Amino acid sequence: MPLADEFEREVTGIRVSLTDRCNFDCVYCHNEGLGDTRGPMDPQDDEMTTDEVVRILEVVHEFGVEKVKFTGGEPMLRQDLEEIIRRVPDGMEVSLTTNGTFLPGRATGLADAGLDRVNVSQDALDPDDFAQLTQSGAYERVIEGVEAALAAGLAPVKLNMVVFEPTAGYVPEMVDHVAVHDGLQLQLIEYMPEIAGHPEWAIDIDRVHNWLTERADRIEHREMHDRRRYFVSDPEGQPTADLTDGDSDGPAAGEGMVEVVDPVENPHFCANCHRVRVTHDGKFKGCLNRHDDHRSMGEMTREEIRATFRDTVANRVPYYGEYMVKEDGEWVINDDYIDRPLPTADD
Ligand code: 5AD
Repeated sequence: MPLADEFEREVTGIRVSLTDRCNFDCVYCHNEGLGDTRGPMDPQDDEMTTDEVVRILEVVHEFGVEKVKFTGGEPMLRQDLEEIIRRVPDGMEVSLTTNGTFLPGRATGLADAGLDRVNVSQDALDPDDFAQLTQSGAYERVIEGVEAALAAGLAPVKLNMVVFEPTAGYVPEMVDHVAVHDGLQLQLIEYMPEIAGHPEWAIDIDRVHNWLTERADRIEHREMHDRRRYFVSDPEGQPTADLTDGDSDGPAAGEGMVEVVDPVENPHFCANCHRVRVTHDGKFKGCLNRHDDHRSMGEMTREEIRATFRDTVANRVPYYGEYMVKEDGEWVINDDYIDRPLPTADD
């Protein structure tokens, strides 16, 4: 039985940052809640070892965690990623979020090691736009990376696109892109300004939902998760709108699928959050959007990992809106919330 938090959310997933190094410098990056990724590119002392990562996964697997997602920074900068994936406990689903540049040459090895799925960050289809957003270029490598993942049998490959002022205009072409390319899906991720800064870049995500409602042939609304899936076909074809309730088996042949990830000021999103995080330097974290809940696992013995995991789950917050409050019509960080002392195991 998975552990549940105070709000009856079972924790069934874990998202592990393997490094905060990255070869890109995306303008929007929240770096899993830690801020800046700029810095040295060679392996750093604060990163967890291969054995530590595997030990954490073994322990949380005992608690019924059945999914792991590796992230960064850029997780493929870790040369032991294949070994880590090979050693993930049997029965856990393994996915990876990457910028894609290292997939050519490594995608097959990752799939052989047991990788089930991959998300590739791709926010634009034009090399110059892409270079501006990522501050590093390498567009062709990313496209090759997506192809390499598909060739390695990792379909569907999810493209992560952060939607904010600079990219909002690229949404239609990105949607067309997944509509015409088999094996690709699109995740439109609402820009989260809380950690990355620049609140003026945020857009009203309803604009995107409304546009997709017009564009889609078919919409699936999963009430339980309050999540919509938009199915889109080739823009040259003849779309017919249809709002279907309930689950389907995913996109039909010739269809692409688009999902919107919209956590900002959305309590439903948090109500459906079933994951905790681990920072690259080996701390549990109950919510992406909090800086005040990093919990060290000490020497990382199994017992310490168990105790820290229990603590983290027990102290999850219902909704990060508590962390942001409105003052004179503006969202600002709630100081009371930040200044609150970290709860201890004895509380
Ligand atoms: N807002 C929303 N999504 C973000 N990502 C990174 N920074 C932000 C942000 N400020 C997403 C990217 C990347 C994933 C790890 O997190 O899409 O693929």
